[in-house]
Amino acid sequence: MTFFAKLAAMTLVSVSSAVLAAVAQGTVLAGADIIDVVDGKTIRGQVVAVDDGKVTYVGSERGLPNGEWTRIDLAGATLLPGLSDSHVHLTSRADMHGLRRLTVSTPRAAISGVANAEKTLMAGFTTVRNLGAPGFADIDLKRAISDGEIVGPRIIGAGQSIGITGGHCGDATRLPYEQQRETGGRADGPWEVRQKVRENKKYGAEVIKFCGTGGVLSPNTSINAQQFSLEEMKAIVDEAKLLDLKVTVHAHGPRGIQSAIEAGVDSVEHASMITDASIALAVEKGTYLSMDIYVSDYILSEGAAAGVTEESLAKERSVGRIQRERFQAAVDAGVNLAFGSDAGVYPHGQNARQFAKMVEWGMSPMQAIQASTIGNADLFGRADEIGSITVGKAADIIAVKGDPLANIRELESVDFVMKGGVVYKNELN
Ligand code: ARG
Repeated sequence: MTFFAKLAAMTLVSVSSAVLAAVAQGTVLAGADIIDVVDGKTIRGQVVAVDDGKVTYVGSERGLPNGEWTRIDLAGATLLPGLSDSHVHLTSRADMHGLRRLTVSTPRAAISGVANAEKTLMAGFTTVRNLGAPGFADIDLKRAISDGEIVGPRIIGAGQSIGITGGHCGDATRLPYEQQRETGGRADGPWEVRQKVRENKKYGAEVIKFCGTGGVLSPNTSINAQQFSLEEMKAIVDEAKLLDLKVTVHAHGPRGIQSAIEAGVDSVEHASMITDASIALAVEKGTYLSMDIYVSDYILSEGAAAGVTEESLAKERSVGRIQRERFQAAVDAGVNLAFGSDAGVYPHGQNARQFAKMVEWGMSPMQAIQASTIGNADLFGRADEIGSITVGKAADIIAVKGDPLANIRELESVDFVMKGGVVYKNELN
């Protein structure tokens, strides 16, 4: 291995990205099996060439175009496209639930975001949708990453989530009336919600998130109750479409889920109590379900120590198992399923723990990997850029030692991470 390849193989937080970009050009990844998520099969005996941040060749060693290639030998490993997560909160810490959350300033949340962005990338997640952050801190994180100042995944940020007065998206509070704080995303009525969509767009949001039911972790909200009327939901979706933005809804209860799908959202987060009729409508409309079926284990085992209130624990006990059963029904019905974990509620960097749950509840390992790669890329509207190891797409590539199709938990410890042709981690050689 050349000096530069070794340099690129280290964890390089302190080395400027300009240096990294220079060394990563003209790299050949050789010796690994490749998971082809487009055709759903493993390819053996081929190499991947990367130049200028993109995949330029996938094929036999003999067919490799001439050039000054830096070789990275990944013999015995399995290559797959960078993973993605459709639901994270990079600015949230898993040990700061309940009342503790009230002590966190926006700058402090942004500092957590810096650390969490790096953990996420090192875990093999090269793209995330950040669904709600205070003060547009997610958009600033994205900019700091693209400026090369800090290390992290590609971020599609929602900015401030939109929710009703007293609703799950930030406005529910434990503070008394005389100490109310105005939260960024609160809006009531069709014109107020349209204004919030416009404001999010103005400050850099690339996806709109609103809350269509109460939540587990918010005080005094019911997970069953719909938040926003159908009319308001339609206004959000319509305004977002005018501005070329995708829309996702937080929804646990059946009525909120059904109304949001009718209103035309691109995806439903949680979808915990989705009915068969709503699953059928989602199939018909191509709506994605982003079901965070791992996080319940964390909330119920670690949540109390992390500050989750008894009120929230009781809600989680009522919904965790149902959500998994409905996930299985959704898999059986062939609905579009995303990979969304809600990391931030549980520790960042452990996003991949959800894969094993998805396999336990009805997916094949290949389907679970496809959800997190080409599935999410399609949901994000980025299928031309990311999601598979394909000539012309970004060189977002990861590797693990074993075969994740035989043991999906291999994805919980990713050994090699490349994003945009730059190697951020290589523990394989
Ligand atoms: N942020 C979500 C909420 O408060 C977390 C839900 C987690 N539970 C679950 N079963 N997915 O509603």
